[in-house]
Amino acid sequence: MPRKTFAGLACAVAVGSVVFAAGYFSGPAINEITPATAAENAVTFPPLDQLVHYTTVRRGVTREHMLTNPEALAAIKAGQPVAAGTHMVLVDYQSDVLHRYLVAQKMGVGSSDWAYQWFWPDKSIKADENVAQCYSCHRSREDRQFMFTFTDALSFK
Ligand code: HEC
Repeated sequence: MPRKTFAGLACAVAVGSVVFAAGYFSGPAINEITPATAAENAVTFPPLDQLVHYTTVRRGVTREHMLTNPEALAAIKAGQPVAAGTHMVLVDYQSDVLHRYLVAQKMGVGSSDWAYQWFWPDKSIKADENVAQCYSCHRSREDRQFMFTFTDALSFK
Protein backbone atom coordinates (compact mmCIF):
# COMPACT_ATOMS: atom_id res chain seq x y z
CA MET A 1 0.00 0.00 0.00
CA PRO A 2 1.48 3.46 -0.86
CA ARG A 3 2.47 5.45 2.16
CA LYS A 4 0.06 8.31 1.55
CA THR A 5 -3.01 6.09 1.40
CA PHE A 6 -2.00 4.33 4.57
CA ALA A 7 -1.54 7.62 6.42
CA GLY A 8 -4.92 8.80 5.16
CA LEU A 9 -6.55 5.66 6.40
CA ALA A 10 -4.89 5.88 9.81
CA CYS A 11 -6.04 9.49 10.06
CA ALA A 12 -9.62 8.59 9.22
CA VAL A 13 -9.58 5.90 11.88
CA ALA A 14 -8.19 8.33 14.44
CA VAL A 15 -10.83 10.96 13.65
CA GLY A 16 -13.49 8.28 13.86
CA SER A 17 -12.32 7.27 17.33
CA VAL A 18 -12.31 10.85 18.54
CA VAL A 19 -15.86 11.37 17.31
CA PHE A 20 -16.91 8.11 18.92
CA ALA A 21 -15.20 8.99 22.21
CA ALA A 22 -16.70 12.49 22.24
CA GLY A 23 -20.15 11.07 21.65
CA TYR A 24 -19.67 8.47 24.35
CA PHE A 25 -18.45 10.86 27.01
CA SER A 26 -21.07 13.51 26.39
CA GLY A 27 -23.83 10.95 26.90
CA PRO A 28 -26.04 10.91 30.00
CA ALA A 29 -23.75 8.39 31.70
CA ILE A 30 -20.99 10.95 32.21
CA ASN A 31 -21.39 11.11 35.98
CA GLU A 32 -21.16 7.37 36.24
CA ILE A 33 -18.13 6.90 34.05
CA THR A 34 -15.83 9.76 34.96
CA PRO A 35 -15.17 8.98 38.64
CA ALA A 36 -15.37 5.29 37.90
CA THR A 37 -11.99 5.23 36.22
CA ALA A 38 -10.16 6.03 39.44
CA ALA A 39 -6.57 5.00 38.95
CA GLU A 40 -3.86 5.80 41.44
CA ASN A 41 -5.02 7.30 44.73
CA ALA A 42 -3.47 7.89 48.14
CA VAL A 43 -3.59 4.20 49.11
CA THR A 44 -0.11 2.67 49.28
CA PHE A 45 0.80 -0.96 48.73
CA PRO A 46 0.91 -2.57 52.19
CA PRO A 47 4.09 -3.83 53.90
CA LEU A 48 2.89 -7.45 53.82
CA ASP A 49 5.80 -8.83 55.85
CA GLN A 50 4.80 -6.62 58.81
CA LEU A 51 1.17 -7.72 58.84
CA VAL A 52 -0.63 -10.43 60.78
CA HIS A 53 -2.95 -12.92 59.10
CA TYR A 54 -5.93 -12.71 61.50
CA THR A 55 -8.60 -14.68 59.66
CA THR A 56 -9.46 -16.62 56.50
CA VAL A 57 -12.71 -16.58 54.55
CA ARG A 58 -13.41 -19.50 52.19
CA ARG A 59 -16.11 -19.61 49.52
CA GLY A 60 -15.92 -22.23 46.76
CA VAL A 61 -12.55 -21.88 44.98
CA THR A 62 -11.97 -18.55 46.74
CA ARG A 63 -9.71 -18.25 49.76
CA GLU A 64 -9.23 -14.83 51.35
CA HIS A 65 -6.51 -14.12 53.88
CA MET A 66 -7.21 -11.01 55.97
CA LEU A 67 -4.18 -9.12 57.23
CA THR A 68 -3.48 -6.05 59.31
CA ASN A 69 -0.72 -4.87 61.63
CA PRO A 70 -0.40 -5.89 65.32
CA GLU A 71 -1.03 -2.32 66.53
CA ALA A 72 -4.36 -2.25 64.71
CA LEU A 73 -5.38 -5.57 66.27
CA ALA A 74 -4.47 -4.19 69.69
CA ALA A 75 -6.47 -1.01 69.02
CA ILE A 76 -9.51 -3.03 67.97
CA LYS A 77 -9.35 -5.09 71.17
CA ALA A 78 -9.02 -1.89 73.19
CA GLY A 79 -12.06 -0.38 71.47
CA GLN A 80 -9.90 2.34 69.92
CA PRO A 81 -9.81 3.53 66.30
CA VAL A 82 -6.91 2.10 64.32
CA ALA A 83 -4.11 4.58 63.61
CA ALA A 84 -3.96 6.68 60.44
CA GLY A 85 -1.92 4.84 57.83
CA THR A 86 -3.18 1.38 58.88
CA HIS A 87 -3.68 -1.14 56.08
CA MET A 88 -6.37 -3.83 56.05
CA VAL A 89 -5.62 -6.35 53.34
CA LEU A 90 -7.67 -9.06 51.70
CA VAL A 91 -5.30 -11.41 49.86
CA ASP A 92 -7.48 -13.19 47.34
CA TYR A 93 -6.50 -16.65 46.09
CA GLN A 94 -8.49 -18.38 43.36
CA SER A 95 -7.90 -22.15 43.29
CA ASP A 96 -4.75 -21.53 45.38
CA VAL A 97 -3.33 -19.00 42.89
CA LEU A 98 -2.79 -15.42 44.08
CA HIS A 99 -5.36 -13.32 42.22
CA ARG A 100 -5.30 -9.83 43.78
CA TYR A 101 -4.86 -7.71 46.91
CA LEU A 102 -7.83 -5.65 48.06
CA VAL A 103 -6.60 -2.91 50.35
CA ALA A 104 -8.34 -0.56 52.75
CA GLN A 105 -6.22 2.16 54.33
CA LYS A 106 -7.07 4.51 57.19
CA MET A 107 -6.22 7.94 55.79
CA GLY A 108 -6.84 10.14 58.84
CA VAL A 109 -8.26 10.14 62.36
CA GLY A 110 -11.94 10.45 61.39
CA SER A 111 -14.03 7.28 61.59
CA SER A 112 -14.90 7.58 57.88
CA ASP A 113 -11.37 8.40 56.66
CA TRP A 114 -10.85 5.20 54.71
CA ALA A 115 -9.69 4.73 51.13
CA TYR A 116 -9.65 1.64 48.94
CA GLN A 117 -7.55 0.15 46.20
CA TRP A 118 -7.24 -3.03 44.14
CA PHE A 119 -3.70 -4.23 43.41
CA TRP A 120 -2.71 -7.03 41.05
CA PRO A 121 -0.10 -9.60 42.15
CA ASP A 122 2.63 -7.44 40.51
CA LYS A 123 1.43 -4.53 42.75
CA SER A 124 0.06 -2.55 39.83
CA ILE A 125 -3.36 -0.93 40.25
CA LYS A 126 -6.50 -2.12 38.52
CA ALA A 127 -7.02 1.11 36.60
CA ASP A 128 -10.67 0.70 35.71
CA GLU A 129 -11.87 -0.22 39.20
CA ASN A 130 -14.54 1.99 40.76
CA VAL A 131 -13.15 2.20 44.29
CA ALA A 132 -16.09 4.38 45.35
CA GLN A 133 -18.08 1.15 45.36
CA CYS A 134 -15.64 -0.42 47.81
CA TYR A 135 -16.10 2.58 50.08
CA SER A 136 -19.88 2.67 49.90
CA CYS A 137 -20.26 -1.00 50.70
CA HIS A 138 -17.73 -0.88 53.55
CA ARG A 139 -19.32 2.29 54.92
CA SER A 140 -22.18 0.14 56.22
CA ARG A 141 -19.60 -0.98 58.83
CA GLU A 142 -18.69 2.52 59.97
CA ASP A 143 -19.31 1.50 63.60
CA ARG A 144 -16.83 -1.38 63.17
CA GLN A 145 -13.93 0.51 61.54
CA PHE A 146 -15.32 -0.14 58.02
CA MET A 147 -14.57 -3.84 58.52
CA PHE A 148 -16.63 -6.87 57.66
CA THR A 149 -14.27 -9.19 59.55
CA PHE A 150 -14.22 -6.96 62.64
CA THR A 151 -15.36 -9.79 64.94
CA ASP A 152 -12.57 -12.07 63.66
CA ALA A 153 -10.02 -9.34 64.34
CA LEU A 154 -11.50 -8.83 67.81
CA SER A 155 -11.27 -12.52 68.70
CA PHE A 156 -7.87 -13.16 67.08
CA LYS A 157 -5.24 -14.37 69.56
C1 HEC B 1 -20.88 -5.18 48.13
C2 HEC B 1 -20.02 -5.03 49.29
C3 HEC B 1 -18.52 -4.93 49.11
C4 HEC B 1 -17.79 -4.25 48.16
C5 HEC B 1 -18.30 -3.44 46.96
C6 HEC B 1 -16.40 -4.42 48.52
N1 HEC B 1 -16.28 -5.17 49.65
FE1 HEC B 1 -14.57 -5.53 50.66
N2 HEC B 1 -15.54 -6.83 51.87
C7 HEC B 1 -16.89 -7.12 51.81
C8 HEC B 1 -17.18 -8.24 52.67
C9 HEC B 1 -18.57 -8.86 52.89
C10 HEC B 1 -15.96 -8.63 53.24
C11 HEC B 1 -15.72 -9.81 54.23
C12 HEC B 1 -15.02 -10.94 53.49
C13 HEC B 1 -15.91 -11.74 52.59
O1 HEC B 1 -17.09 -12.00 52.94
O2 HEC B 1 -15.45 -12.13 51.49
C14 HEC B 1 -14.96 -7.70 52.75
C15 HEC B 1 -13.65 -7.67 53.18
C16 HEC B 1 -12.71 -6.75 52.75
C17 HEC B 1 -11.40 -6.55 53.36
C18 HEC B 1 -10.87 -7.22 54.63
C19 HEC B 1 -11.19 -6.33 55.84
C20 HEC B 1 -12.68 -6.34 56.17
O3 HEC B 1 -13.33 -5.29 55.96
O4 HEC B 1 -13.18 -7.37 56.62
C21 HEC B 1 -10.77 -5.60 52.61
C22 HEC B 1 -9.38 -5.03 52.83
C23 HEC B 1 -11.67 -5.22 51.53
N3 HEC B 1 -12.85 -5.92 51.66
C24 HEC B 1 -11.37 -4.29 50.56
C25 HEC B 1 -12.23 -4.00 49.49
C26 HEC B 1 -11.85 -3.25 48.30
C27 HEC B 1 -10.49 -2.66 48.01
C28 HEC B 1 -12.97 -3.18 47.51
C29 HEC B 1 -13.12 -2.57 46.14
C30 HEC B 1 -12.18 -2.96 45.11
C31 HEC B 1 -14.04 -3.85 48.23
N4 HEC B 1 -13.57 -4.34 49.40
C32 HEC B 1 -15.36 -3.89 47.79
C33 HEC B 1 -17.83 -6.40 51.09
C34 HEC B 1 -17.54 -5.55 50.03
